[in-house]
Amino acid sequence: MTEDIGERVVELAKRRGFFFQSNGAYGGVSGFYTYGPQGATLKSNVENAWRDRFAVQEGHQEIDAPTVMPEPVFEASGHLDGFDDMLVECPECGESHRADHLVEDATDIEDAEAVPISEVEEMIAEHDLVCPNCGTELAGEPVQDFNLMFETNIGPGSSQPGYLRPETAQGIFVEFPRLKEYARNQLPFGVTQIGKAYRNEISPRNSIIRVREFTQAELEHFIDPEEDEPPLERVEDVEVTLYPASEQNKENGDYVETTVGDAVEDGILTNEWVAYYLGVAKPWYERVGVDMDRFRFRQHLPGERAHYAADCWDAESEIDGDWFELAGLAYRSDYDLSKHGEYSDEEFTLFKQYDEPKTVERATVDPDMSYLGPEFGGQAGEIADALETKAERDRTAFDGDTVSVEVDGDEYVVPVERTGFAVEEVTESGEHITPHVVEPSFGVGRVVYTVIAHAYREDEVDGEERTYLELDAEVAPTTVGVFPLMDKDGMAERAREIAAELRENGLDVTYDDSGAIGRRYRRQDEVGTPFCVTVDYETLEEGTVTVRERDTTEQTRVDVDELAESLAGLRNGGGTFDELLAPADAE
Ligand code: ATP
Ligand code: GLY
Repeated sequence: MTEDIGERVVELAKRRGFFFQSNGAYGGVSGFYTYGPQGATLKSNVENAWRDRFAVQEGHQEIDAPTVMPEPVFEASGHLDGFDDMLVECPECGESHRADHLVEDATDIEDAEAVPISEVEEMIAEHDLVCPNCGTELAGEPVQDFNLMFETNIGPGSSQPGYLRPETAQGIFVEFPRLKEYARNQLPFGVTQIGKAYRNEISPRNSIIRVREFTQAELEHFIDPEEDEPPLERVEDVEVTLYPASEQNKENGDYVETTVGDAVEDGILTNEWVAYYLGVAKPWYERVGVDMDRFRFRQHLPGERAHYAADCWDAESEIDGDWFELAGLAYRSDYDLSKHGEYSDEEFTLFKQYDEPKTVERATVDPDMSYLGPEFGGQAGEIADALETKAERDRTAFDGDTVSVEVDGDEYVVPVERTGFAVEEVTESGEHITPHVVEPSFGVGRVVYTVIAHAYREDEVDGEERTYLELDAEVAPTTVGVFPLMDKDGMAERAREIAAELRENGLDVTYDDSGAIGRRYRRQDEVGTPFCVTVDYETLEEGTVTVRERDTTEQTRVDVDELAESLAGLRNGGGTFDELLAPADAE
């Protein structure tokens, strides 16, 4: 196989209109890419395949939320405090670098993100790491946390700070109070979103793999952790290559080749919901054209996990010997909904009806305001609320003569006899619970890049070198190229008519009448068009066309009347080109 596939992909992508750095007329800005005509269609085909599998087939609902969100959302979600990468700056040229990536490039460590900052500083010195831009030594330079969110102001002035969302997920979490109504307050239910996310990456690299604006396809599946179980039987036989944290920590750690069902039984996949989505994700990646020999699931090391994640496995793929993340499949527990419940004025819980009403003990307070008012002045109301919360959460706090509560960081001590504390028996029909969340989070651009890189082929046809993309027909930007053999005797007119008919049948068609037929085939091969149709004299006389398949370059003749149906069948996976060849062979 050809070396440096990445470089070839980037060259092809720019030349043939898959993707290229944006704003070239103004010198370009790192980390921003435009998808050209081929790339935009490929990307949208990948998104539709994702939508089909993760929303439609799972019965989940899709939403479309704003990309700018106000600051309190990210205070609550923890992104303001914890969404950082490790930054080291070159003292000579001022270039910024991801300190953990410099360490990974120079050592065997695969995920230096999990290593504490002080140790990363030590490793920079120990391995004499230098600035990749100018070669200056970085030993002794401080490594700092750098928050990745893009800040903006909402409206004129700076009174309402906002941020471009760093993940589409928050647009789903903040709307939970409404979304649960649409789901008729029944768990489990899932909400998906495909949209832009923004991260001010310290050093964008590898073309569209690490950019500052990218598309995520995310599913937030809300569940009752005590009752809901995933339909594991649907995916238990899916074969997976796993790279558990325990293996990554060993000197000669290895992959575990297993099935989803066995991995759960053997305790490698400890969370059944995460296991279920691994089993859904693997065939999906295969469906859109990721090479399964260069694909694995890697478990996050404990220090590597995002601030919200209880367990996380990444889907990863390999190109040119480097592994990178395609998706994160995380168990976010009740982290996000609890935080939004705490920080906002709305309820982020759901009422769970019991099968039978239950009689339970409930601790209540009825504070004596004629005491609290004079004693605590303006704080009395908040102290009364704090007493109520304390009674609900820790009734033993009322066992003594006094109870203390905290309001705005100050502690207040109240005699228990003034709190009206009591424990009573009540009959309840249900309870408010905070759902847990399992989240498959996919990056669309990384799938597009991988699919192109894994489909990249070079061979020789009729003594000429050829480059082609062995793209799956479902994601290929064009399904059929239609060519007139020559622009005379009505062939071009007939070819245009056939192209229009194929389009009416829902196929992506490119019409091309310029240059030699061989060149036209090469042009389509390079953008991964699986089939080409040529209109020639036989078409005019007998009503058949030549259909050529991209990978084998084999050709067969098909009746024009059957063409649309045959090609649509091939595109949708119904039949193979060999079956199309069969009638011709039989003649
Ligand atoms: P990495 O470790 O590569 O920086 P991450 O762990 O920060 O990725 P997540 O936060 O899990 O990534 O984001 C979910 C998905 O969004 C990733 O699996 C990836 O496909 C995509 N993604 C994240 N950051 C970027 C980026 N800067 N450019 C392109 N895609 C991205
Ligand atoms: N929603 C997961 C992530 O973007 O980190």
